[in-house]
Amino acid sequence: MAIQKPKANPLKALIQKARKPKAQKKLPLFEAMRDGETPTDSMLQRSAKDHLWMHFTRHSPFQDGDMNIIAKGDGIYLWDTKGHKVIDGLSGLFAVNAGHGRKELAEAAAKQMLELDFMPLWGYAHPRAVELAERLVSYAPEGLTRIFFTTGGGEAVESAWKIAKQYFKLTGQPTKTKVISRMTAYHGTSHGALSITGIAAMKQAFEPLVPSTFRVPNTNWFRAPEGFKSEEEFGIWAANRIEEAILFEGPETVAAFYVEPIQNSGGCITAHPAYFKRVREICDKYDVVLVADETITGYGRTGEMFGCQRYGIEPDMMITAKAITSGAQPLGALFMKDKFFEPFTKGTTTFPHGYTFAAHPVACAVALANLDIYDRERLVDNVRTNSPVFRKTLEKLKDLPIVGDVRGDGYFFAIELVSDKATMQRLTPDQRERILRGYLNPAMYKAGLYARADDRGDAVVQLAPPLTCGPAEFDQMEAILRPLLEEAWKKL
Ligand SMILES: Cc1ncc(COP(=O)(O)O)c(C=O)c1O
Repeated sequence: MAIQKPKANPLKALIQKARKPKAQKKLPLFEAMRDGETPTDSMLQRSAKDHLWMHFTRHSPFQDGDMNIIAKGDGIYLWDTKGHKVIDGLSGLFAVNAGHGRKELAEAAAKQMLELDFMPLWGYAHPRAVELAERLVSYAPEGLTRIFFTTGGGEAVESAWKIAKQYFKLTGQPTKTKVISRMTAYHGTSHGALSITGIAAMKQAFEPLVPSTFRVPNTNWFRAPEGFKSEEEFGIWAANRIEEAILFEGPETVAAFYVEPIQNSGGCITAHPAYFKRVREICDKYDVVLVADETITGYGRTGEMFGCQRYGIEPDMMITAKAITSGAQPLGALFMKDKFFEPFTKGTTTFPHGYTFAAHPVACAVALANLDIYDRERLVDNVRTNSPVFRKTLEKLKDLPIVGDVRGDGYFFAIELVSDKATMQRLTPDQRERILRGYLNPAMYKAGLYARADDRGDAVVQLAPPLTCGPAEFDQMEAILRPLLEEAWKKL
């Protein structure tokens, strides 16, 4: 009998093919580094152009030109891969409050990595999270005794909304879900946080967003409608618009109002203390959660540990991030009154929300070391002492025809640019494009200052340097800006 040959297994060939080691792609930067070469600027430029997608960044200029690749930071200075040195006039992104290159933050991170590199906060705690939560409460505005950690500001914005919604569901007011926030305010990019954000141009590409958010006027006194006798009167008017919105929507449907102590977008928009007092009254009257978004203003930027303390704001919840670690690790902390936590202490009730890397042990260790620096070097006192000098130095620029307003507080100022000082004429879209993006941003960098010329509201140049700097650095910044603003005027 003829022996039948077994049929070839068709899977075998496939399995053998899959088992063959795949040749890793030959990519030039990676190859060079594997050969022990130090990457040059041109290698990094090529690779970044091929593979990197930067945030909130127009990439078209990099088709022909180079990007700035920042390679080193020390104190208030940054260096790029071409060796160009600039003052960090923005603390990275309102984060590096203790200045760059802090050895003790690096040491705290290394120590923590060897002790406990990672544990999430899901069902288990770890010592650094416990220690940090209590330490944060020690600095906090009265009554904020509970901390929910995130990895950044936007997640804390999102978490505050979700906590408020579930809290009201658990306490017998299930229809309280809506959020009121201010025009031009930025609160983050996830769908919830973006819905709370008040910048239409940032939202259009992603509509429809999460429904049930509404905007009220902000407190930009420089751009206030005519007819107000004082900033206080204007502030009370603006606060009353919140009451109007609550009544229009129905108080039984409104969960929270979000406000920054100094609003970043639109250019360091401050408010009269009477505004915040009235906001508190309104939130109390209609049982609306007052959420202070201190993503930027937290940790000393205003001259108090928190802006709420400086302006007499009494929040129910407070969002912080960025400078909690002086930017050396990603971390956010949402502070709140214990009443929001209370319903979650019963039975099977849980807040079904969290982030893998929130309260990362390394981030918490770095935050604790950062707060040690704050205490030892009295960084917040430095801001309080020197802020009036910073303001005065920048106000010297008011003699230039293009400077309409200098506003802000602490180490957080905006210079608003106008095309006619007498009429406070705004820059046109074409002028903003040419002057801010086309000229000022690259020119400031070239002249040695990393700062931000921005037009999410009106056209402004913003400065928020590390809290370690002082009058000598303010003078340097003013000296760099002056000729550039003179040139900008000629280019209008
Ligand atoms: C006021 C405010 N809220 C929220 C955010 C979002 O924070 P993050 O980028 O850490 O998510 C920012 C970011 O700059 C902010 O300025």
